[in-house]
Amino acid sequence: MSKQFRIAPSILSANFAKLGQEITDVIASGTDIVHFDVMDNHYVPNLTIGPLVCEAIRPVTDAIIDVHLMVKPVDRIIPDFAKAGANIITFHPEGSEHIDRSLSLIRDHGCKSGLVFNPATPLDYLDFVMDKIDMVLLMSVNPGFGGQKFIPSTLEKLKLARARIDAYKEKSGREIWLEVDGGVNAGNIAEIAKAGADTFVAGSAIFGAGKDSDPNRYNSVVKSIRDSLASL
Ligand code: DX5
Ligand code: ZN
Repeated sequence: MSKQFRIAPSILSANFAKLGQEITDVIASGTDIVHFDVMDNHYVPNLTIGPLVCEAIRPVTDAIIDVHLMVKPVDRIIPDFAKAGANIITFHPEGSEHIDRSLSLIRDHGCKSGLVFNPATPLDYLDFVMDKIDMVLLMSVNPGFGGQKFIPSTLEKLKLARARIDAYKEKSGREIWLEVDGGVNAGNIAEIAKAGADTFVAGSAIFGAGKDSDPNRYNSVVKSIRDSLASL
């Protein structure tokens, strides 16, 4: 049997005027997770969506909502996202003065927690917090915008992260997801999966395929992504 892979469409590239419908349709096309990009025009040079929008979409879907915080600081806003229905909350170590405390705060509010690594951020931040982490997210672009090109050095870094996660599983029996975010598409996803990722964010590659109002508009792109993964 092929490995279990999760597809997480980034709603950053969705049509915000029809966000509820976009989410319904993209999940119905065979994807698993709503990836929710939060930017503050401070930690990253762009401004997006906050807890109000998370709360608004919560009743629209049963899918996991994966909140990717690109904000600084993080602690003030974590409880708000938990109350708004987030299932997973991840943040960048550079966004928190006290990483261990922020991870605990996420868990204390009933969510799964994760750390996000920019292309140049070392994995060392994982050294003493594996027990507090449910997901490791590797950025394969610099954060701030959808539609950028996949940075190839991420493949090597994925292998290193996979080795850490496997060694940890061996020891603890606990599963940690390895997610990749930025420039992922049907053409490169197999190679990315081979490097060790099990969860794939895709924004422009998926939502860019949906120009009309056909509810099945994402089916063929999601199928081609699934087909690329099927052989692994
Ligand atoms: C970038 C965001 C990504 C982005 C992915 O800062 O974290 O989630 O929307 O978009 P694509 O798939 O278009 O690179
Ligand atoms: Zn993201």
